[in-house]
Amino acid sequence: GLKKKEVNVLCLGLDNSGKTTIINQLKPPNVSPLSEEWKHVSQAQAQEIVPTIGFNIEKFKSSSLSFTVFDMSGQSRYRSLWEHYYKESHAIIFVIDSSDKLRMVVAKEELDTLFKHEDIRCKKMPVLFFANKTDLKDAMSSVKVSQMLSLENIRDKPWHICASNAIKGEGLQEGLDWLQGNM
Ligand code: GTP
Ligand code: MG
Repeated sequence: GLKKKEVNVLCLGLDNSGKTTIINQLKPPNVSPLSEEWKHVSQAQAQEIVPTIGFNIEKFKSSSLSFTVFDMSGQSRYRSLWEHYYKESHAIIFVIDSSDKLRMVVAKEELDTLFKHEDIRCKKMPVLFFANKTDLKDAMSSVKVSQMLSLENIRDKPWHICASNAIKGEGLQEGLDWLQGNM
């Protein structure tokens, strides 16, 4: 059959924003999704998550693409690793904890630094934002999050923001569909 196009995706965002939870939900479950077992497996995938050390590499396929995702640690001590993967990446997923008002300014700083980097600045790569943790009662809307991050200032790159609840898997497929359509 036809070989799927291979794409490298860099998953960035502050620690605790939900990157690994999102990637785990996008990966197919280890067990074949037969009847009852599905929900179980999906819940387990959302629960076993621990803070990422350094980064993890995950692979999964969509209908037309073969994804290699670099799931980076968001902890400040590991953020210096991010830039080493800019050159080889074809798309970015940037995850925000919508309920973390205090650190929204930190997220914006990291985003500004990212977009100023020479390996990113002139690249026309798509950027998908997940305004994650929409289930929490203090969560801001995706519109509010995009205002706080000044996403309207992004030049030369198609971008899109999706509200998501990574634990339940809500909003993730919409995001992936957008990404797939913009690769
Ligand atoms: P680092 O690896 O440290 O950079 O963090 P991360 O961005 O990978 O976050 P991770 O996926 O480890 O999730 C952090 C915590 O948030 C975990 O306890 C998750 O269960 C929880 N979490 C992730 N997504 C959601 C969500 O949509 N809603 C809620 N309520 N909790 C979430
Ligand atoms: Mg992680």
